[in-house]
Amino acid sequence: MVTATKRIVLTGVTRGLGLAMAKAFIRLGHTVLGCGRSTGEIEKLKKSCGAPHDFEALDISRDDAVQRWARRILKSHGAPDLLINNAALINASAPLWLVPADEFSRVIDVNIKGVANTIRHFAPAMIAQKNGVIVNFSSGWGRSSAPDVAPYCATKFAIEGLSQALAQELPPGMASIPLNPGIINTDMLQSCYGGSAASFPEPAAWAERAVPFILSLSAKDNGKSLSAP
Ligand SMILES: NC(=O)c1ccc[n+]([C@@H]2O[C@H](COP(=O)([O-])OP(=O)(O)OC[C@H]3O[C@@H](n4cnc5c(N)ncnc54)[C@H](OP(=O)(O)O)[C@@H]3O)[C@@H](O)[C@H]2O)c1
Repeated sequence: MVTATKRIVLTGVTRGLGLAMAKAFIRLGHTVLGCGRSTGEIEKLKKSCGAPHDFEALDISRDDAVQRWARRILKSHGAPDLLINNAALINASAPLWLVPADEFSRVIDVNIKGVANTIRHFAPAMIAQKNGVIVNFSSGWGRSSAPDVAPYCATKFAIEGLSQALAQELPPGMASIPLNPGIINTDMLQSCYGGSAASFPEPAAWAERAVPFILSLSAKDNGKSLSAP
């Protein structure tokens, strides 16, 4: 049951699951503090959502950019109740030996280091209040593997380990949770499923179920590998 208004830091708000979650959180009266790289989409969100919601264009793989963003958000809004690490990339489908080194690095930089960057800069304020839930988006491919997406699988297995280790470090009252969202028709799914992605739920329909579930997460869920309904 969701009652109080939450401050929600959400990465990857410009499309896909992040955009659908942002819209659903806002509709339920929560405050969304979001980022993504596309400046055009961020400007649209700023115009359509207005204050107290806050959107900034930045790349989560850049620690200095995340640090500046977190300082500004913490100063103007205070510590988040929920930090959702949703932003991620997938490699263009190919066997591992054909994935170029720079593409492999980019997937690691965004999907693992980007998550660590937001935790580095937002978690201390949450820990100071001994309050807050950190949800790191994992995947079915963080728990079992598939061909042609080895770099992505590696990062999502890493998210499971990172989230569970963090769960052992947080003080009582907080939670770190790796969350598999399910299979949803987004740009990312289309890149690996092609035309058959269209047979999976749309992000808005997914968010109707997933957002109340995410809002219900609390310290009792610390360290659990969960899946969205
Ligand atoms: N869709 C599925 O079926 C599925 C299944 C399992 C897990 N997931 C996970 O769910 C999450 C969302 O996936 P999705 O399907 O919604 O993906 P998507 O449609 O590709 O959207 C990814 C979002 O992340 C942002 N992003 C990417 N790189 C970024 C960076 N360096 N800095 C900041 N933002 C960045 C993108 O915006 P910009 O391009 O504007 O930066 C976009 O808003 C991911 O963690 C994904 O691994 C999805």
